[in-house]
Formats: sequence, structure tokens, C-alpha cells
Amino acid sequence: MHLTLRQLTLFESVARHLSFTRAAEELHLSQPAVSMQVRQLEESAGLPLFEKIGKRIQLTEAGREMLDYARRIGQELQELDDVMASLRGVRRGHLRLSVATTANSFATRILAAFSQRYQGTTYSLDVTNRKTLLDQLSNNETDIVIMGKPPDDADLAVQPFMENPLVVVAHPDHPLAAHPGPVPLAALQEEVFVVRERQSGTRIAMERFFDERGMQLRTGIETTSNSAIKHAVEAGLGLGIVSIHTLDLELQAGALVILDVEGFPILRHWHLVHCQGKRLPPIAEAFRQFLTGEEGRYLLRHPLPPQKAAG
Ligand code: PGA
Repeated sequence: MHLTLRQLTLFESVARHLSFTRAAEELHLSQPAVSMQVRQLEESAGLPLFEKIGKRIQLTEAGREMLDYARRIGQELQELDDVMASLRGVRRGHLRLSVATTANSFATRILAAFSQRYQGTTYSLDVTNRKTLLDQLSNNETDIVIMGKPPDDADLAVQPFMENPLVVVAHPDHPLAAHPGPVPLAALQEEVFVVRERQSGTRIAMERFFDERGMQLRTGIETTSNSAIKHAVEAGLGLGIVSIHTLDLELQAGALVILDVEGFPILRHWHLVHCQGKRLPPIAEAFRQFLTGEEGRYLLRHPLPPQKAAG
């Protein structure tokens, strides 16, 4: 099969947009030039790659296969480019980092410090939930991920690098904030909780903790955002369970307090994760070493000002 990298690039763009016109715009070419290259690719394949349904074009089965290979070849070429750049001593590249929603609270701080060292590096930072992170890893759509512990059966390289304690937060005027000594766990059963969505690591850990103790919590609002939980708790809508890394200004300002509850904090860990079989692009490897080395540890050591614990 005779094809050129250029044909694959043009085809990938048309397949992504499902439009010859938009691909031509993206690549600053004329539409007939793009059509001709895709037609030549179809001739080499001996099969049509697109079909017309009404006014729209769709990928054929051969087109979907071609797209899968075109993307993989594109990624390999990017990797080759990165490796050559690193051999030339170039300390930059494009880092594709994906982080769990909660990890965003410290990821940007780490990136700021990293980018001082590796100037000229560009970034894509995707902040998303646990399920999407695992999908991205298996589809090779990201280089490196910061998340809670991934499942053991996935083919992933996993490196824990920091504790992630989950705590119970309350409005400072909440009666449990004045409880003398630790709050008994059973007292939480009388409360309503503002919780994260079911696919979040925080929610999964919290449910496991209470299931193991034969308890079920009353949940009020469910949200995908840690900030929304904090605002709701501040507004008196219930108690919240969040990672300590999401709390900073609220504690300093006295808008929220951490309750000293029996059995808490729920101790989790942050992990740096990438595909086991995949060679990390040099800039991602540099990031891994930065985060898990002395500098990263120093930056992460005191993520919070002195904490105010109630009770
Ligand atoms: P999340 O955090 O709750 O934002 O998904 C990840 C985790 O704790 O595993």
C-alpha cells in the first residue's frame, strides 16, 4: 500500500471534522487539494473511507480503521520528534497532563514551578473524573495522569507520591463544630451531606468507608464540583466530605471548619499514572521526575497553612 504521511494528516483532519471544507481551512489548503489527496488514499486502500449520508459525510468501516492507524502513527511521530529534541538537549515539548478534579487544586501550582524550569514547554491540562481518566489512558489520549489509585488489573505504571486525606467540613456555627472531643461517627447519621458525583474518587472512597461500617449517609445535593460542595456547606445546606487539598482560603477565613470525627480522615493517596507499555515522551518523563523528586516533594510538603480543626 502506497500512502504518504501527508495523506494521513489530511485524512485525519477530514475525519475529525467530518468536513472537507473545515479540514481545508484548518490546514490552509484549498478544498479540491484536500479531496484529491483523500481520493488518492482511498485508491491505495482500495476502499472508500467516507460515505455520504444525506448532506453529511461519515466514516466507513475502512475509514474508522484508517483513522485509528493515522492517529497512532501521528502519536509515534510526535514521540520520535520529542526523543530527537531531547537528544539535541532541548528541554521543552508539549505535555499532555490529565488530573482528577480534586488534584487540580495543586496541579497548577506544580505546573507553574515546572514551567519555570522547562521554559517554552506547552501544556494541555485536562481536569476530569476518574472514569474519563482511565479511558484516556487506555486510548493513549494523555501522557500522564494524577489520580487516586487506579484498578490493579489495568496495564498501568503507578507511582504514589502524596497522601490525600478526606475530611468532614462544616459551617463554623454547626452544632457539631462545638462538640467537646471527637464527634462519634454515629452522629453523622443524623446529618445531611453535600456529596461529589458517583464517578469521583472522593465519593467512591467515602461510600466504601461508610459501607464497611454498616452505615448509610443521607445525601442532599450531589455535584461534580468541590467548590460547589464548599459553597453549599458555607450556606448551611449540610456537611461535606472533601480532600484536605481543596481547603485553604475557607479555613483561613473561618468560613468552614474541619470536624474532628472518629475514624477520620479517610486516608487516600495521589498517584502518578501512565501506560505501562508506553515510553513516556521526554517532557512527561521530566515532569514525572520533577513531581516525585526533591523539588516536587518540597512544593507539596506544606499544601496548607496551619489548619483549624474544630471539636
Ligand atoms: P476526585 O479525586 O474525587 O476529584 O475524582 C480523585 C480521587 O480522589 O481519586
